[in-house]
Amino acid sequence: MRGTWPVERRRLTLELGISGRKAIVCASSKGLGRACAVALAEAGCDIVVNGRDRERLARTAREIREATGVAVHEVAGDLDDSATRAALIAACPEADILVNNNGGPPFKAFGAITRNDILAGVESNMLTPIALAQALLPGMAMRKFGRIVNITSGSVRAPIAGLDVSSGARAGLTAFLASAARNHVRDNVTINSIQPGTFETDRQRSALERAAAQRGVSLETARADAQARNPAHRFGEPAEIGALCAFLASARAGFITGQNILIDGGAFPGAF
Ligand SMILES: NC(=O)c1ccc[n+]([C@@H]2O[C@H](COP(=O)([O-])OP(=O)(O)OC[C@H]3O[C@@H](n4cnc5c(N)ncnc54)[C@H](OP(=O)(O)O)[C@@H]3O)[C@@H](O)[C@H]2O)c1
Repeated sequence: MRGTWPVERRRLTLELGISGRKAIVCASSKGLGRACAVALAEAGCDIVVNGRDRERLARTAREIREATGVAVHEVAGDLDDSATRAALIAACPEADILVNNNGGPPFKAFGAITRNDILAGVESNMLTPIALAQALLPGMAMRKFGRIVNITSGSVRAPIAGLDVSSGARAGLTAFLASAARNHVRDNVTINSIQPGTFETDRQRSALERAAAQRGVSLETARADAQARNPAHRFGEPAEIGALCAFLASARAGFITGQNILIDGGAFPGAF
């Protein structure tokens, strides 16, 4: 009979099924990484947070602890330093969830990019996340649960002039992990990437300041113009990245792997 589905008896909240899981969230003292750490903590995960600025990291850790009651461990240091990566793994050797995030390469005109710029970008946005994934994957596979979520960029899909190092290094990461994503899913270990469009963070503010200076307009004008160009007429909220990250890291998402999920308010103009 139609209309008899017992909707009222079903739970209306989506249980992510990761309460008590342990997560390492790289580069998470502010911005998108912090939003991922918050969302995972809200889902009940104990988390390890990281960033180079100790004070900011401690503040973020305290705020997440107070807001959610989960255990929050701080590992201060530069992710591109192998000692920091070793400290992250030592803090959480049986991590169930790894969020690979890092600072992005600076904006630079194509002709001015040096070999050292390229090496630095590849180190930060390709080699560092690969090293962490390689270190944690075997344990995840053995324990039959693992979720690796990489924060990459919409620029992997559609170029942004001046961010060529970023786009190239992240495209390399994406391709490098594509086979591992397929090889580990049978052990309930998934690897996916989030490709953010434009989100309100400090990094984004610097980009807007640069655009405003180039055009000789105010920051407010540059922001309003950039927002108007997006079909949603706004920038993304970091919490929207956090929510997507928590879902990809959840027990619900075990059949999603090797995917690159664009979250950009529809800015990418392709149907596929
Ligand atoms: N926001 C956007 O619209 C957008 C769009 C596409 C892609 N992305 C990418 O997403 C990533 C995060 O961007 P965001 O906007 O959140 O940047 P953000 O607001 O500048 O935050 C960056 C975070 O990473 C930490 N960090 C930076 N370099 C680090 C390093 N070497 N080792 C450890 N921690 C480090 C920073 O803390 P410390 O400085 O204290 O280390 C901070 O917690 C970047 O790779 C960016 O390129 C952002």
